[in-house]
Amino acid sequence: MSRQLIAAGNWKMNTNYEEGIALASAIAENAKDPKCLVVLAPPFTSLAGVSQAIKGNPNVKLAAQNCHEKEKGAYTGEISIDMLIPLGVEYVILGHSERREYNKESNALLATKTDLVLSKGLTPIFCCGESLDIRNAGNHIDFVANQLKESLFHLDAEAFGKIVIAYEPIWAIGTGVTASPQQAQEMQAAIRGLFADQYGAEVADATTILYGGSVKPANAEELFANPDVDGGLVGGASLNAEGFTAIINAF
Ligand code: 13P
Repeated sequence: MSRQLIAAGNWKMNTNYEEGIALASAIAENAKDPKCLVVLAPPFTSLAGVSQAIKGNPNVKLAAQNCHEKEKGAYTGEISIDMLIPLGVEYVILGHSERREYNKESNALLATKTDLVLSKGLTPIFCCGESLDIRNAGNHIDFVANQLKESLFHLDAEAFGKIVIAYEPIWAIGTGVTASPQQAQEMQAAIRGLFADQYGAEVADATTILYGGSVKPANAEELFANPDVDGGLVGGASLNAEGFTAIINAF
């Protein structure tokens, strides 16, 4: 089985235009291992600059951190998918827990966004993950399964096969507390099992499932060593070129 390994950097609301270009240039210079695809998700305002900075390195791709669910119209302050495509964006992060929490994005809304992104030929990086309360109650696997079912299981196998999944337990995001390799593997094996039930083993085996939540150079190798962890969606540690390069090289 061979699936695409990915190290993705979600810069969130960090870096201005110049900082973004400098960071992307430093990463693109070092990301030479064809085994691992590098995906950078800078803020919208840096997409054009980062796009130029990574040109010439086919290992490095551009992602948006979100897009609006409508193609155009009177939505002041929003960014449409058609605005992203000419900038070279190939991936769109959808359903990040910060957007679910602060922007009240529901599973149903995320289904609509997923359809739009796929219809334009881009790849959603679809995030899921439970809070600490849900994990402590022992409901984490059911909760994540429900997020995935409600947003993705209307897709046919061909469309579903184009999606990248990112499991990001909320209690591990930005907290310095990483899921243990066993916790990441347990959940990600369960997610793959769910996909196998719905779409068959071949589709499930080919789906890239990333882990996110306090991934750093010190823990990337033991996380990525798990059979169902196909890379990382990295926040804080992706803002440092040297550290992120070490994560890229952890495969
Ligand atoms: P941290 O790596 O900062 O915990 O963030 C993870 C994340 O939310 C990536 O999308």
